[in-house]
Amino acid sequence: MNTEKGYAAGFRTLDTEVSDRKLPVEGTLPTWLRGSLLRNGPARFEAGSGAAGRAFRHWFDGQAMLHRFAFADGRVTYTNRFVDTPSSRAARESGRIAYPEFATDPCRSLFARFFSVFSRPEVANTNVSVARFGERFVALTETPLPVEFDPETLATAGVVGYEDALKGQLTTAHPHQDPGTGDLVNQLTHFARRSEYRVYRQPTTGTKRELIGRHPVTRPGYMHSFAITGRYVVLAEFPLTVNPLSLILSGRPFIENYRWDPERGTRFIVFDQREGGVRGVYETTACFAFHHINAWEDEDRDGDLVLDLCAYSDASVIDALYLDRLRAGEGVPVSYPTRFRIGLRTGRVETERLAEESMELPRIAYERHNGRDYRYAYGVSSLDGREDDFINQLVKVDTRTGATLTWHEEGCYPGEPVFVPAPDAADEDDGVLLSLVLDSANGSSSLLVLSARTLDVLARAQAPHIVPYGFHGLFTGRA
Ligand code: CO
Repeated sequence: MNTEKGYAAGFRTLDTEVSDRKLPVEGTLPTWLRGSLLRNGPARFEAGSGAAGRAFRHWFDGQAMLHRFAFADGRVTYTNRFVDTPSSRAARESGRIAYPEFATDPCRSLFARFFSVFSRPEVANTNVSVARFGERFVALTETPLPVEFDPETLATAGVVGYEDALKGQLTTAHPHQDPGTGDLVNQLTHFARRSEYRVYRQPTTGTKRELIGRHPVTRPGYMHSFAITGRYVVLAEFPLTVNPLSLILSGRPFIENYRWDPERGTRFIVFDQREGGVRGVYETTACFAFHHINAWEDEDRDGDLVLDLCAYSDASVIDALYLDRLRAGEGVPVSYPTRFRIGLRTGRVETERLAEESMELPRIAYERHNGRDYRYAYGVSSLDGREDDFINQLVKVDTRTGATLTWHEEGCYPGEPVFVPAPDAADEDDGVLLSLVLDSANGSSSLLVLSARTLDVLARAQAPHIVPYGFHGLFTGRA
């Protein structure tokens, strides 16, 4: 019996690559919308083909593909291309899984595992996000070497090395811009006899990183993103942690070495960019998140840190994202937009759910509101908070009132909504959202342009093939 649900079509390999394909557009694009949406995500889920092919196990293991939707003069063109890494080359050309992924390991000796985890940062499958290093565009994952690509052709240019000696085997694919200086800020986890979290800044002009602070840790936590304000950098350490030795010795793939231990609670480690080092560690009850939404310093309330993230009650979502479970339609736990108010003076942490709609893959009006007080968050969501389907609606949350707007169409599965502000926008939500939607009934993917104010669909451009679900993207004014 075929129990596959409609949304499973977004977890199948896409082999086709196209260049500058003009897309049919329904509706009317804003005349001011000019530039490119660059998106990243997994698009090959097995090495080799047919019965002999070996499958990647987890959604996060799929081989990276970049997509570009370019807007100019009321038209949309589309380009897609695999990121050319040793990992994707091995999968495509020799049918081998040659490099360790998030939840799939190649067959290799203990020595080789040691070599890869602790000494040689391998060029990994950069399938998570897209960032800008000054004028350069890079694809990122959670191992520290970014891969540069051409933002027009999407051709891989090569690995970007760093001009410093900062070490760490794990990072986040969600670097922030310092709201004050524009520098990139990110976190490294360094696994060693004495493991550490290391927070660094990287001036936009180069690839020489400077340490902001370090924090020793016995069992490092799995951190997919973090928060920044004008003054602080906040790492949220959820109780999903690892004994670094097991990464070498257990023989299990990366993420399967992490253990959920709710007794530990959640710890917010607050780094002070101005003074350097750690201002404090603030504890609250256990939860888990991939994504922070935003954070800011509340000057009206004693300089409290206000930190919003998409919180799950536990880390079971990671297991729910194994491809066999996704394709079998077993459903996925949902996360809610949740506010943590951290009293830097009192040491207290208060928690409040911001809305009754679920939210993942959050975006904000980043250029003006990153690290500052803000009102609106946008994301993907599940109708009625149901956990027996995949993300099937878009949501806008008013973080001040808890009011929500949603967009939902039967059988449609939207991706991360990227906010693009209108030129000279007067209001925070004056602009559009760009979301790539899989329509399971039609067997097609379309890029939706929605009013960020109302979530009304202004235009849709149909892609020439089903685009597997992606993770993150960015909009650049370059057309
Ligand atoms: Co992410």
